[in-house]
Amino acid sequence: MKILSIESSCDDSAIAYMDADTCELLWQGKISQENSHKIYGGVVPELASRLFARDLPILLSDFKSKFGFENLRAIAVTYEPGLSTSLLEGVMMAKAISLSLKIPLLCINHLKGHIYSLFINQKNAVFPLNALLVSGGHTMILRCYSYHNMSIVSSSLDDSFGECYDKAAKMLSLGYPGGSIIDSMANTATFSNDYMVNQYIKDTKLPIPLSNQNTLDFSFSGLKNAFRLKLQENSELLDLIKQANDIQNEIIDSKDSHKNLESITQKIKNNPYALALAYNLQMSACEHIYQKCEKYLKDSKQIEHFAIVGGASANSLLREKIRDLCNKYDKKLLMAKLEFCSDNAAMIGRASIDLLDSKNINILDIDINPRNTEIDRI
Ligand code: KG4
Ligand code: ZN
Repeated sequence: MKILSIESSCDDSAIAYMDADTCELLWQGKISQENSHKIYGGVVPELASRLFARDLPILLSDFKSKFGFENLRAIAVTYEPGLSTSLLEGVMMAKAISLSLKIPLLCINHLKGHIYSLFINQKNAVFPLNALLVSGGHTMILRCYSYHNMSIVSSSLDDSFGECYDKAAKMLSLGYPGGSIIDSMANTATFSNDYMVNQYIKDTKLPIPLSNQNTLDFSFSGLKNAFRLKLQENSELLDLIKQANDIQNEIIDSKDSHKNLESITQKIKNNPYALALAYNLQMSACEHIYQKCEKYLKDSKQIEHFAIVGGASANSLLREKIRDLCNKYDKKLLMAKLEFCSDNAAMIGRASIDLLDSKNINILDIDINPRNTEIDRI
């Protein structure tokens, strides 16, 4: 039997088809909204909602033409947490399919879905495990024993790891999402022989958040602010950013303005001061996460698996540092394949397979829970 799953919690329309017996991913489709939100420097909920209403049916019709609905045992959908206007679109479509085909509807928590991104194409999930979840909305350490038994060990007091990168990229006028852009600029700086880049790296050191505090909390808003203040010190870079902002604010859709914007964006990406800032942001943000995870792992001897999941777990330095940490504390590291780090429907389908035997919920009682994480704090 097969599972059809839908993900629409933020800005990716995604549908996947999975074999419920082998957990093999048979097909998946995804339409990203990144290009539509880019000029606003973040997700615009009302626009996201309209794009889901347009894109989810395109994916569903693509699925239907390839496989048909005959073998579906259940439909799974993300119903919490996320943007309410985004969640609603997927849940409405899932309800309609469930009602018309008379198959159960399984409501999946998005954060738990990220944990299951580790087990796509794998029949047995590996529990217990500790996990670091880093995404655009969350930064947390989770202790997981099963789908129903996961708890939050610690989380961010303010911004998330991915959000910190997104906001830094926005300050540099580099669009949304900013994670991979800042990551790749930081890597360019790491391997740069340019004298100015190396000098600026020394001049723009940023603080490591909460490094003197004996807690497991995360925090990124102070780091974001320190980044902003350092940025104010370089007038040449500020001038480039102003030029980019001016073109974007005009929102003139001419070929010339596109070309101009591209050329200024490239100048910002290659600017030695911007490269140094990206490098130092990456250093501080990843070191902060390393320190808190190390603190936790020192006292968490029993659980042998440690995982990193979520869209921002694609970060190159974070992966490297967590790998070192696991070696140091003799933990087995689990990482999702890069294609399953960011939001996708396959992880929702995989999570739902562990729920197939749960008792059915009345479809008419199902609502969305935009702010609910369903996972308790320890
Ligand atoms: O899990 P995800 O796809 O969506 C949410 O549930 O939020 O994560 C998206 C987030 C964005 O903030 C994006 O900038 C960040 O993950 N991200 C990264 C990297 N790639 C994506 N952050 C840092 N470094 C990266 N390489
Ligand atoms: Zn996510």
